[in-house]
Amino acid sequence: MKVYEKDQKVKITLKVNGKTLETEVEPRRLLVHVLRDLGFTGVHIGCDTSNCGACTVLMNGKSVKSCTLLAVEANNSEIVTVEGLAKDGKLHPVQEAFWDHHALQCGYCTPGMIMQSVWLLKENPNPTEEEIREGISGNLCRCTGYQNIVEAIKAASEKLRLGQPQYQHQ
Ligand code: FES
Ligand code: FES
Repeated sequence: MKVYEKDQKVKITLKVNGKTLETEVEPRRLLVHVLRDLGFTGVHIGCDTSNCGACTVLMNGKSVKSCTLLAVEANNSEIVTVEGLAKDGKLHPVQEAFWDHHALQCGYCTPGMIMQSVWLLKENPNPTEEEIREGISGNLCRCTGYQNIVEAIKAASEKLRLGQPQYQHQ
C-alpha cells in the first residue's frame, strides 16, 4: 500500500477527452475539483453526499460520480466529460436530442445527465421508458420534471441505432 505524507503532492496523469494532461494533487483532492481546475467546468457539483450526479463523467468507459473518487485513484485513466462529446462542433446525438426535446432548463444537471445517458445507451441501446428512468436515477434535476429528458434519451437511442457509428464508442 502506498503511504503519503501529509500535504504531499502526487503527480498524476489523466487522459481527458483524448488529451493527456499531467498535474500535481494532494491525495485527498477529489477528482471533480481536479477536472474543474483543469478547465472542464462543465463538470458540476450539486451535493456533498454522492446523490445528485451533476459530477458524472465517463472513466474508462464507465459512468462515475467524480465527486466520490480521489484524483489519485483516477491516475492513468481515460476520462470523457461533456466537453469531449461534440466532434468538430457537431453535437453528439444525445446532445442534439436534449436540445430538440427541451430536456434542460437551468442546465446545471445537464452535463452529468448527458454523460449518464451516453453510458446508458451504450449499455442498453434500446431501453424502455422504465429502463431509462432507472438508468438516470442517480442524476437529479430540479427543473424539468424528467419527462423531456426521458423523451430525449428515447429519441437519441433511435438515432444511435439508425447509424452514426462514429459516436457509438464514447
Ligand atoms: S456532486 Fe452530487 S453526486 Fe457528485
Ligand atoms: S435543468 Fe436545472 S437541474 Fe436539471
